[in-house]
Amino acid sequence: MTGEHAHCSCGCSGGSDLRYQQLEKIIAEYKGKPGALIPVLHKAQGLFGYLAEDVQELVAEGLAIPLSEVYGVITFYSLFSTKPRGEHTIGVCMGTACYVKGAADILKTIKTQLGIEIDDTSADGLFTLTVTRCLGACGLAPVLTIDEDVYGRLTPDKIPDILNKYRQSNAK
Ligand code: FES
Repeated sequence: MTGEHAHCSCGCSGGSDLRYQQLEKIIAEYKGKPGALIPVLHKAQGLFGYLAEDVQELVAEGLAIPLSEVYGVITFYSLFSTKPRGEHTIGVCMGTACYVKGAADILKTIKTQLGIEIDDTSADGLFTLTVTRCLGACGLAPVLTIDEDVYGRLTPDKIPDILNKYRQSNAK
């Protein structure tokens, strides 16, 4: 049994955030099991939406794993994020087929339209931009996803309409 962790030490609203208690339970459940780190990080991200530094520290301490290793895993796997995510996640496929068919232009257009770089979130909190490996839809190259939706045979001029669809549905 581990002792009680101090709650968030950053000076925020104190120990009232139940998510930290839930995180401690998750850590306790996996502690000592092989391969615990990835499922714990996955559940922690589910709780908080992203993996902030204090969460990384609690996981490292709780599982007795060096913080550098925790950070290494988070940065290696693109499903983990250390920053808050937007409401919608855009994934531009940069696999070979998509790249050959102009994925770099698609990516550039989105960056310009949203005024952000890869792994950033637009100022309105709507979109987070990521790049992905082959999505298995090479016949539709170049391809991007927004959440569960897949868009293929893209050209830069199609991007504004696609983004607007999500802006409008959020404006309702
Ligand atoms: S390379 Fe993009 S879907 Fe396969």
